Order: sequence, then C-alpha cells, then structure tokens
Amino acid sequence: MNEPLKQKSLPPGENEFRLLVDSLQDYAVAVLDPEGRITAWNTGAAMIHGFQEEEIVGSYFQRLYTSEDQAKSLPQHALRQAAADGRYEEEGWRVRKDGVLFWANALITALRDRQGRLTGFGMVTRDLTLQKREKEASRRSEHELRHQARHFEEQLIASGESLAGIIASMAHEFNNPLGIVRGFTQDILSEIGPSDPRYRALQIIDEETRRCEKIIRDVSDYASPKGAAVCSVSVAHVIEKSLERVESHLEKQRVTAVMDLQPDLPEIYADPQQLEKMFVNLYLNAIDAMPEGGTLTVKAALESRDAPGLHRGQKQEPEEKSSSPAPLPLRGGEEKGEGVLITVTDTGAGIEPENLQKIFRPFFTLKKGKSLGLGLSICERIVKSHGGWIEVESRPGHGASFRIHLPLD
Ligand SMILES: Nc1ncnc2c1ncn2[C@@H]1O[C@H](COP(=O)(O)OP(=O)(O)OP(=O)(O)O)[C@@H](O)[C@H]1O
Ligand SMILES: [Mg+2]
Repeated sequence: MNEPLKQKSLPPGENEFRLLVDSLQDYAVAVLDPEGRITAWNTGAAMIHGFQEEEIVGSYFQRLYTSEDQAKSLPQHALRQAAADGRYEEEGWRVRKDGVLFWANALITALRDRQGRLTGFGMVTRDLTLQKREKEASRRSEHELRHQARHFEEQLIASGESLAGIIASMAHEFNNPLGIVRGFTQDILSEIGPSDPRYRALQIIDEETRRCEKIIRDVSDYASPKGAAVCSVSVAHVIEKSLERVESHLEKQRVTAVMDLQPDLPEIYADPQQLEKMFVNLYLNAIDAMPEGGTLTVKAALESRDAPGLHRGQKQEPEEKSSSPAPLPLRGGEEKGEGVLITVTDTGAGIEPENLQKIFRPFFTLKKGKSLGLGLSICERIVKSHGGWIEVESRPGHGASFRIHLPLD
C-alpha cells in the first residue's frame, strides 16, 4: 500500500530525504502506482497543480492532462513508454485544479523492486509556462523585426531612396553621438594630466572617435560628393592652407615639407574646399609612406595643355616622356589650352608596379584595419569634377609622385 510522502514511518535517513522532496516547491513530485493512480504528492505538486495531497491521492494522474490529451490516451502512452524504456520525458499542457493551463515538463521514471517488478512510477513536473512565453515573445519579436526590416526595405525601394541618401542620413545620425563622445573626452583630458592612469585610455577614445568620424566623412563624401562651389582660386593659397592642416602629422613623423610654387600663377576656377580635401588626402598618404621621416615636395606650375601626359597609374620614365610624346589623354572634359600642373612627391616607400593600377579604386588599401581606402578615389573624383586628371609614378623604395592637372577655367 503506497502512502503519501508526508507519512513518517520510515527507516532512518529516508525520512529526511522525503522531507527534502516534500519541501521542493519548484518541482511537483508524485508517485504513481503501476496503473497510474497517484499515491504520493509533495508540496511543490500542490503548488504547481493546485490540488492538495488529500484531494488528489487515489486519483488517476490522467486528471492532470487536458481533455484533448486524455482523449488521445497520452497519459497511458507516457506510462507505457516509461515502463518500456525506464523513463519518459515530455512537454505539454497540464490543467490546474482551477482550470488554468500551464506548460509542463514532465519526467516519468519507472520504479522497480529488486526482482525487477514494476512497482509504480515517479513523476517530476516543472512549470515552464514563463520560459515558454518568453521564448515565444522573443520568437515573435524576431519575426516582427524581420517583418519590419522587410517592410522598411520595400519602402526604401518603393521610395527610390538611393544608397547615397541612406549613407548620408546614417552619417548624420552617427556624427552627433560621436561629437558628444569626443567633446566629453576632450573635456576630461583637459582636466586631468598625463600622469592620471585614465589619460592614455581617454587619448585612445579620442583617437578612435576621430577615426570613426573620418570614416563617416570619407564614406559620405564618396557616396554623395558635394556639388562644387566654384570660384576664382589661388592654387598657391590652397596648397599652403592644406599643408597647414597636416602640420601636426608632418611634425610627428619628422617629414619636411618643401613648396616650389611658380610665382604669379594665375587663379583657376575651382572649389577651394574640395581641392583642399584632395591635397590633404595626398599629403596624408605621403606622410603614411614615410614612417622614418622624409621630404614632401609640392610643386605647382603653369603647363601647356597640349603637352604630353601620363595615363593615370602608368609608370613612365622622364626620358621616355620627352623622347616619345604621347597624345594627351582626354579625361574629364579637358581641352587643349593652359592649365596648372601640381606635383606632390614624397621620398617614402613607393608603390609596387602591380598596385599602381589599383590604388585609385575605392576600398583598395594596404593599410588594412586602419583605413578604408577611399582617399585616392575621392581625390580622383574631385580632380575629374574640375575637368582635370590625376596620375602617379613611383619607384618602389624611393617614393611616389602624384601629378594633378587642372584646367585654368
Ligand atoms: N604616397 C604614397 N606612397 C605609397 N603608397 C601610397 C601612397 N599613396 C597611396 N598609396 C597606396 O595606395 C593605397 C590607397 O590609398 P588611399 O588614399 O586611396 O587609401 P588609404 O590611404 O589606404 O585609406 P584612406 O585614404 O581611406 O584613409 C594606400 O593604402 C597605399 O598603399
Ligand atoms: Mg589615403
């Protein structure tokens, strides 16, 4: 005859064990006879199923199942499987005494005596309703997110929003928080000295924030170049101003800048800001190529536009240039006439011949992890938008020289 768990006429040790089982509140522990009648019921079972021990002991455990599952004989199936395999685990709905359903994980174990005869079953049930709801909610929200993303994508396509537009608005969204981070970082940096243990970390935050800002600037410049604001510009002035902008980089890398500007250069029609951006990109590349220091030379002179020129990315020795004049490549609408030739030359590592053709491609970079590789493609776009063209020659190990041809008007 099976007795409820709370009865205490037990051998020493087992009493404590049963008290422990009885006190479990998150687990409904029940003992069933071989036919499935409940013979023992702990406190956890009373809490989870809502039936007190005296109400349920003697009932068939089928009572805990939904009527649909009873009709499908799931309880009998569970007992048969447990008897056959030693254990049977399932998840499904169970009915509390008050009729409320809960999602249960139930493990039914066959209990056998020393002779192997089936004496009953142990059943441990957990209420997983909350976990199930959370899982469903996260599945639903994932589904909703996907749905929203698809909807957004369709709307974008339908509205004809260009990638450039999306990048521009993303750049705008990113710039504000980055500006705030940098502002606060600089405030704190100015308040603490280099001896402060946080100083280096803050410097890194500052540098990385600047790097992010540059990436955003480059990507949005590349995706949606600004319309040129053309006016009469002194090339010499733009060159000087752009050199000032990289002064700290020159100093840091011990690079000497030399300017060789033809006096009385006529002004050209150009967008000074875009020209400045182009020069800064070229100078920064040159400085990057001279980690041990060197010389950056910027020359500007009038050139006759029917003079021979190099194709972009082609390497050509000076002797060849004068001995075999090639027709001027017509790019970006240039015509014969007068123009300005600006040369930016460095004494750095130079560019391998196989890379000369690639360096103007967007996202080509040998500074992986540090740069995006958009600098020269932005330069090329700026020069072209001014009706000019850019070319490069280099002797690896001896430096590189970028030539920018700009028409006078
Ligand atoms: N003056 C130079 N000397 C040597 N290599 C150069 C020079 N200028 C450009 N390069 C090479 O061309 C590559 C492309 O240059 P580009 O300016 O487009 O991109 P980046 O400098 O790598 O990245 P970003 O300009 O976007 O920060 C560089 O990674 C570098 O390998
Ligand atoms: Mg660059």
